[in-house]
Amino acid sequence: IGILNPDTVFTGKKFLITAGPTQEAIDPVRYISNHSSGRMGISLAERAAEKGAKVTLVLGPTALKPKPHPNIETISVVTALEMFNATKTHHTESQVVIFCAAVADYRSEKPSDQKIKKKENALNISLIKNPDIAKTLGENKKQGQVHVGFALETDEGLGSAERKLNEKNFDFVVLNSLLDPEAGFQKNTNQVTILSKGKKKIKTPVLTKDKLATQILDRIASILENQKY
Ligand code: CTP
Ligand code: CA
Repeated sequence: IGILNPDTVFTGKKFLITAGPTQEAIDPVRYISNHSSGRMGISLAERAAEKGAKVTLVLGPTALKPKPHPNIETISVVTALEMFNATKTHHTESQVVIFCAAVADYRSEKPSDQKIKKKENALNISLIKNPDIAKTLGENKKQGQVHVGFALETDEGLGSAERKLNEKNFDFVVLNSLLDPEAGFQKNTNQVTILSKGKKKIKTPVLTKDKLATQILDRIASILENQKY
């Protein structure tokens, strides 16, 4: 049995983290998006960098930024397609991939190049599906790579989280249920359930997002350590 030392396990390891929302233009002044602040993914990037990992953070539009650190390279993106391209580019070289972004599932089929004028009655906008970044890259997971996902649900969410764990080929998934008053968007704290393939699920206490990031990284460290034996 090896002695677990997350502070050396990560040294020089490449991490790829998606974070924040994406924005999908409807016209030059309007877009579809969500309430993600990016805080969880930014915290993961900062903690991993402090532990010696080389982090590529693919960050959607948000007011927050990681604290400058020589081990963090931030790639700013706006749309899901931009996030997909940036993430694909860095996927193969990464040992750990964390899909923290709240990617918009749909985009306007044909964004208008002029501001859409108010109609007499209802307005219909045709939406098409964005690529599923985690699922696509999960299908191309490299030997020894660790993929971590997040699931945000407005109900209890265990069934959907389990499905996402399997469909997207995650090593584990962090389930945020908005039923928990401490969890979710724009909050500093989180209480989550962690589901892993073939392991018992774990419910964490209410934690700050920084503490939760540390717990997630400890779990990744133990997966990396176990690969050695
Ligand atoms: N995800 C992704 N690309 C997408 C949608 C989701 O990479 N286009 C990732 C998220 O970053 C997260 C996981 O997939 O790690 C689950 O996202 P979520 O929105 O909860 O799941 P969906 O599969 O989109 O299902 P739904 O929104 O219907 O619950
Ligand atoms: Ca979604």
